[in-house]
Amino acid sequence: MRKTTLLGAGLAFTLLFSPFQHAFAAETKGELRQVDLVAHRGASGYAPENTVAAFDKAVEMKADYIEIDVQRSKDGKLVIIHDTKVDRTTDGTGYIKDLSFDQIRSLDAGSWKGEQFKGEKIPTFDEILDRYHGKIGILIELKSPELYPGIEEMVAQELKERNLDKPQNEKIIIQSFNFESMKKTNSLLPKVPIGVLTSNKVDTTEQALKEFATYADYFNPSYGIVTEELVNLVHEKGLKIQSWTVRSHEAADFLLKMKVDGIITDYPDYVDPR
Ligand code: G3P
Ligand code: CA
Repeated sequence: MRKTTLLGAGLAFTLLFSPFQHAFAAETKGELRQVDLVAHRGASGYAPENTVAAFDKAVEMKADYIEIDVQRSKDGKLVIIHDTKVDRTTDGTGYIKDLSFDQIRSLDAGSWKGEQFKGEKIPTFDEILDRYHGKIGILIELKSPELYPGIEEMVAQELKERNLDKPQNEKIIIQSFNFESMKKTNSLLPKVPIGVLTSNKVDTTEQALKEFATYADYFNPSYGIVTEELVNLVHEKGLKIQSWTVRSHEAADFLLKMKVDGIITDYPDYVDPR
């Protein structure tokens, strides 16, 4: 899968005569590096988050990954939605954990974003895996896994059934704010890259990063706590860093300057005007 290629301004002249002529020349000096472009809840600046419309848009916009939030219905179906309640993004009310899959599926998850999206449904995890694996990377967030005992095993099972638990796994990463859940996921799926999410500075110490590196591959902070020193420290510990959530050109430019490995954004076109 292609990665977003960013090129230092010092190479701009060379580029005119190189195979990278289409690439974005960033205003950082002199080196070639790659940054993964992750469409947050799909291209959610342009289509209702966590719906097929947003994920298709991310594919169309040539993102490297879609980011999805996984939760579970009352009757045990894995579904893709960010909030623990359906109220903000659908025409229904209530907690995901208290609604049956049929109830969840009957909701309109598109109209809140615009009439043209009326009828978009809350997707299931298996539908998203089947529709997108091999087409675009999938950054899977276990959202509030403490509400859903055993969700790690269920996610692992879905991946194994599709042979997506192997090293050549077509770009699958699993992340969460819940570190214990990620430790467990790592033991269930030792070959799938794991990410830890945080917006908390206490998680950026050398000691904390060392501990994360025992089971995770990515340290994924909110951009408010990103510094060049942190990026260097994360890399020193053998981890990669993807940061969120970019909703402005300024934030995108900042993270490019910080040399993160991935940018998680609602607006894929803000990161790389290719
Ligand atoms: O992928 C990072 C980001 O999704 C974490 O925050 O609240 O949007 O799930 P949130
Ligand atoms: Ca998320």
